[in-house]
Amino acid sequence: MPETRRLRADIDLAAVRSNVRALRGRLTGGAALMAVVKADAYGHGLLPCARAARAAGAGWLGAATPEEALALRAAGDTGRVLCWLWVPGGPWRSAVEADIDVSVSARWALAEAVAAARAAGRPARIHLKVDTGLGRGGCPPADWADLTAAARAAEAEGAVLVAGVWSHLARADEPGDPSIAAQEEAFAEALAVAERAGLRPEVRHLANSPALLTLPATHYDLVRAGIAVYGVSPSPEVGTPEDFGLRPAMTLRATLAGVKRMPGGHGVSYGHRYTTPGDTTLALIPAGYADGIPRHASGTGPVLVAGKWRTVAGTVAMDQFVVDLGGDAAEAGDEALLFGPGDHGEPTVEDWARATGTIGYEIVTRIGARVPRVHHGDEDRRAEAAS
Ligand SMILES: Cc1ncc(COP(=O)(O)O)c(C=O)c1O
Repeated sequence: MPETRRLRADIDLAAVRSNVRALRGRLTGGAALMAVVKADAYGHGLLPCARAARAAGAGWLGAATPEEALALRAAGDTGRVLCWLWVPGGPWRSAVEADIDVSVSARWALAEAVAAARAAGRPARIHLKVDTGLGRGGCPPADWADLTAAARAAEAEGAVLVAGVWSHLARADEPGDPSIAAQEEAFAEALAVAERAGLRPEVRHLANSPALLTLPATHYDLVRAGIAVYGVSPSPEVGTPEDFGLRPAMTLRATLAGVKRMPGGHGVSYGHRYTTPGDTTLALIPAGYADGIPRHASGTGPVLVAGKWRTVAGTVAMDQFVVDLGGDAAEAGDEALLFGPGDHGEPTVEDWARATGTIGYEIVTRIGARVPRVHHGDEDRRAEAAS
């Protein structure tokens, strides 16, 4: 039984389900929803979140690594799963045998998929990925005609089924950025090239969470939503979770490991980057960068303790940090809320992102393996199913 007193992440699966429903409600043109559950469901726990997303009607699940996709199958998930981060020599055959859709961005990957299909004795379902401007993964436009033609030839032989054509946006979280329209246009062109090659993909997909929320024209047949499923905003420019009826699923809470009175002028934590301004009360929070609390939160991270927001005093250490309660009282064993939906006045993931110069994605995803995830809300699902 993991120790849940020191620090734990409570995960509200009812929120995951309600977010998936809210997101489905925003889809246009009959598009389906893929809940992206890579990176342990953005730190929220792969399997419980995958089950919650399915229960709320996610027709697809999205994984980065094959291990993530195979873990879904090992746990009994039988729905459509796309896995997109491949290397030569990866477990292509296992994926094909497990009926996982695989992404292909280059001729070497197509060759791997074809070989895996032959070994497995069944066609590989592939999604051809084009780089429409992100400049990261995906087939460059110059090679796209060649890749689509080769995929069509492999399809004609029965080695692959081209189930999808897809791409990824670079700046959907910056509404109005001109790169968005340029990528939309490049994607339309890439689809036309694929069609001329004779491909008739079941799903064309381009949109992530911010595009789902703000760019209906990008929805096509399928939308890959990650961060919004967990009730976190893609960016302040897109809006707050509440703007879209989304509820944050993760609450990070700690138990105070100590409270002490200290004199003024006393240095606090490594490097003495904070000095007590006068006689004061310091509280010790047993959470550190080994738990995914960014060291960048030193002097900036917000925490609700004894009814008020406090700021990390001095340096975040590996396992602990300090907050200054001033004249307020608390005792060892009291609760500290680092972030959550805000119901009790606690900071949100977005507040942590702002305070540490990063994005909400990184705050939740980096919560470490040492922090137990305690899932709630499955009971409601059973009740919903029974009613
Ligand atoms: C290829 C791809 N599609 C979709 C997503 C989901 O993005 P978001 O979490 O912004 O919805 C990601 C996540 O980074 C991704 O890498």
